[in-house]
Amino acid sequence: MKVVGGSASVPLARGIARELSVDFVDVAFEKHTGGFPDGERYVRLLGPVSDEHVVLVQTTHPDAMIVELFLLANAIRDAGAQRLTAVVPYFGYGRQDKRFLDGEAVSAKTIAKHLAVDCDELLTMAIHNAGILKTFPIPAREVSGMPAIGRYLKSTKVDMLLAPDDNAIRFAKEASAIAGVPFDALEKERIDSYTVKITPKALAVRGKSVAIVDDVISTGGTIATAAKELRAQGARHVIAACVHGLFVGPAEANLKVCDDVIATDTVLSPHTKVSVAPEFAAAIRALH
Ligand code: R5P
Repeated sequence: MKVVGGSASVPLARGIARELSVDFVDVAFEKHTGGFPDGERYVRLLGPVSDEHVVLVQTTHPDAMIVELFLLANAIRDAGAQRLTAVVPYFGYGRQDKRFLDGEAVSAKTIAKHLAVDCDELLTMAIHNAGILKTFPIPAREVSGMPAIGRYLKSTKVDMLLAPDDNAIRFAKEASAIAGVPFDALEKERIDSYTVKITPKALAVRGKSVAIVDDVISTGGTIATAAKELRAQGARHVIAACVHGLFVGPAEANLKVCDDVIATDTVLSPHTKVSVAPEFAAAIRALH
């Protein structure tokens, strides 16, 4: 087995290779220093993969990383790999998992269809709707990142976890079991891409250290609204914890209300403090 990492996921790919004690194959991402002037992607494998089971790790955010994933998958296939497992830690376009309005693309399925051209199977993490994986043309499985977050939160001696909305309950529940603390949940209504409203609810948080746990932090609107509610109800310390830290637009300003922000290495950012390499390595070991 060999591990290859796209440029969005090199540290995680190296971590997975280390966990599995297998070789990491370097990739050149530039043909000439500075890359192509028009921003097009370039990939070249710098080691052999012929007859190998190759694990290709690449997050599909931002968009150019999708192109890089397809180029790498094709290069690996053409170089004679015998099996290709795509690890897409953050599956961008996962939220467009159905046709909400006539004429729309089901973007998540479109990405999967193209992945299936060269990849035999897919592992991903905290995808918006895990149910959609069953409709993909190749076997696809969701791996949980919550053990990694739960372990980290346990080390911070947090008192309780909070799911900011219904969707996050499954994440908070799993992380709370690992951190060994209780969890509670809020109800959220999304007004627009930047604004959410939370249904008022009394929380037993006075004087406590609370971690808000979610799958994704995008604009930070969800976390900021929940964090303000926690502050208003007397929480002493507020941590924001997510699997995928996109941190777009006003996110940094929104997150100032939190004492600490932690994210995993599915998407790299200054808040990446937790690695999910052990979780993906275990899932790869379990492949048949
Ligand atoms: C929504 O269901 C997701 O779980 C996240 O809560 C959401 O994507 C976060 O977005 P934002 O940071 O922009 O509020």
